[in-house]
Amino acid sequence: MLSEHQLLTKFEQVQLPQLNDYLAKRLAKSSAQPVLAQSMTYSVMAGGKRLRPLLILAVVQSAGLVLDDDVLAVAGSLELLHTYSLIHDDLPAMDNDDLRRGMPTNHVKFGAGVATLAGDGLLTLAFDWLSTTSLSAEKRIQLVRALANAAGPAGMIAGQTDDILGVDQNYDLAELKQLHQRKTGALIHYAVEAGCLLTDMSATQKNALLRFADAFGLAFQIFDDINDVVGDETKLGKHLHVDEAQHKNTYPALLGLDGAYAALKTAITTGRQALDELPSDDWKLLASFFSYFDTDGE
Ligand code: IPE
Ligand code: IPE
Ligand code: MG
Ligand code: MG
Ligand code: MG
Repeated sequence: MLSEHQLLTKFEQVQLPQLNDYLAKRLAKSSAQPVLAQSMTYSVMAGGKRLRPLLILAVVQSAGLVLDDDVLAVAGSLELLHTYSLIHDDLPAMDNDDLRRGMPTNHVKFGAGVATLAGDGLLTLAFDWLSTTSLSAEKRIQLVRALANAAGPAGMIAGQTDDILGVDQNYDLAELKQLHQRKTGALIHYAVEAGCLLTDMSATQKNALLRFADAFGLAFQIFDDINDVVGDETKLGKHLHVDEAQHKNTYPALLGLDGAYAALKTAITTGRQALDELPSDDWKLLASFFSYFDTDGE
C-alpha cells in the first residue's frame, strides 16, 4: 500500500504538468499589455506547490468525476487568485519581502506599481475564468460568490488586514486563530467548497469535507509560521525569520515552538477526524494531503 506521501506525490506527478500547462497557455492570452502579461506570468509560473488547485482536483477525482477543462479552469482560477495574494502580501507596504518561490518578488523585478497591477489583473482574471466555463449559469454564480466570499473582505482580506494591524498589538489565541483562518483558511475552505459544488456533493459529505478544510487551513498557516522559524529557505523559496523581524502575530511567537507544534498536531487530528466520518477508501487521496506536514523528510 502506498504511504500518504507516495500517494500525494503520484497525484502531483499526474496533475501538476497539466495544470501548469493549462495556466501557461491561458495566461499567455490574458493581456495585450506585454509588461503586465509578463509580470502576471512571472509570478504564476514561478513554481509554488499548487496546493489549493490540487485540493479542488482531489475532491473532484475522489467523487469519481472526470477532470475536464471546466474543472481545470476552476482550479487554475484559484491559483491566479492565490498568486495575486502573494504578490500583494510581498509588497513594500505589506510584508516587504524580496524572495518568493525561489525568485525575486514581483515588485523587485517589475516595480511596486506594476506588481500591484499584476495582482489586480490576476484577481480579476480569476473571476473571468470562473464565469466563462461551460458549467451551468447557476453553478458559475455559486462559484463566483463562494470565491468572492472567501477572498474578499469577509475572508482573506479581513485576515490580511488583521495581520498588518496586528504588528502593534499582541493578539490572544482566539484572535490569532481567527486571523489565520481568514488570511489562509478561507481560500483552502473555498478549494474544498468548489470541489463540492462541482460534484454536487451530498450535504453530509460536504459538511465533513469543509470541517477537514478548515482544520487543514489552520494547520497550513501554523506550519507556515513554524517554517519561518525553523524551515529550509531553499526548499521554501522565501526568507526565514521575517515574522519575528516584523513583530507578526504567529503561533511560535505566542506559544513558543513546542506550543506551535502542539497546535499543529491538534489541527491535523481535527482534520483527520472529519475525514474519518467518510468512507475511507474514497477519501484517502484527500487524507494524503496531510503528508505535507511530515517533518521527517520523505
Ligand atoms: C503561502 O502559500 C502563503 C500562505 C498562505 C502561507 P503557499 O505555501 O501555498 O505558497 P506557494 O503557492 O507554494 O508558493
Ligand atoms: C500570507 O501569510 C497569507 C496570504 C494571504 C498571502 P504570510 O505573510 O505568512 O505568507 P508568507 O510567509 O509571506 O508566504
Ligand atoms: Mg503576510
Ligand atoms: Mg508574507
Ligand atoms: Mg508566513
